[in-house]
Amino acid sequence: MLVSQQQYRTIWPIEGSGERLNAVAIIDQTKLPHAFEIAHIGNLQQMITAIKTMQVRGAPLIGAAAAYGIALAMQQEPSDHHLQVAATQLVQSRPTAVNLNWAVQRMLNLLLPMAEVNRTQVAWAEAAAICDEDVLLNQAIGQHGLGLIQRFYQKIAYQGKVFNVLTHCNAGWLATVDFGTALAPIYAAHNAGIAVHVWVDETRPRNQGASLTSWELAQHGVPHTVISDNAGGHLMQQGAVDMVIVGADRVTSAGDVCNKIGTYLKALAAFDNKVPFYAAVPSPTIDWDIANGLTEIEIEQRHGDEVAYMQGLAADGSVQNVRVIPVESKTANPAFDVTPARLVTGIITEQGVFAPDKLVKHG
Ligand code: MRU
Repeated sequence: MLVSQQQYRTIWPIEGSGERLNAVAIIDQTKLPHAFEIAHIGNLQQMITAIKTMQVRGAPLIGAAAAYGIALAMQQEPSDHHLQVAATQLVQSRPTAVNLNWAVQRMLNLLLPMAEVNRTQVAWAEAAAICDEDVLLNQAIGQHGLGLIQRFYQKIAYQGKVFNVLTHCNAGWLATVDFGTALAPIYAAHNAGIAVHVWVDETRPRNQGASLTSWELAQHGVPHTVISDNAGGHLMQQGAVDMVIVGADRVTSAGDVCNKIGTYLKALAAFDNKVPFYAAVPSPTIDWDIANGLTEIEIEQRHGDEVAYMQGLAADGSVQNVRVIPVESKTANPAFDVTPARLVTGIITEQGVFAPDKLVKHG
């Protein structure tokens, strides 16, 4: 996507030369929206840190990052032992998004049977292939989601109304290699001339909506409004939301949707107000091995400081952390929740739009 009129992906390899080994470039998402910075990741431990600290984040992107983490590890030491250690550490870096495990397993299946001497080169190529595939999956999701939006939009277009979509967290191009999942249909609709407006949930505690979704929508010129996390239900009651589209970190075979904490409350409000609720999901996000999202998905518990502090731009232009709760108070910080399939209208995948209980495994 475009940043200041220049084309970017969220992650890409940097070829080494001479003594310098290959590295990986990422957009450092902890710096947005106040600064656009590229960070260079030179080894496995740096990639694990980038995933844990959320310099890279979003289910598809951490899958791609983990694949490059394996390539970096092979460049350091291509032994079976190091491959297994790298795989274990990467999978443990964030537990909820299944894409991370999916990408690591794909790398292991390819590299383990292979001679050590070939592993590094093949690992770089496979990580690049995972990235290219992610882009294609998201473009297809965009087209299927566009068809869906067009069908809904036709009902209100004759009244000259704007089509209002509410989204939670960031499931845009920053959360993937490019194009995004939940935002892919929105970009496609905007590009097709549909008057789309996005309600952007701020998404406490990390504010991915306020900091990232708003930033990328602004870069692309998509009209949007940032709202507090608690505003969505009220807006739905007022008839100000035509559709909810969210991404997911894991969808079960039965259509339960695990996504950023707070998604479930939006789904409840959407259900109560008969607002269609969709999750946009590439196939690596579907975990066919489990059915019950509530009992079978590990929910990441993040550090309480993310709740206790907020980051923002101070009047002097510096980025500062400020404490927003009493020093005596305890915090809890579950990072994801599960929306049961019964609250989900449909799942938009690269194969089409499916009822949550009618997901079909391809390939
Ligand atoms: O904790 P994060 O920012 O990695 O969580 C991201 C989300 O919950 C996204 O909605 C999800 O990964 C879908 S990304 C296309």
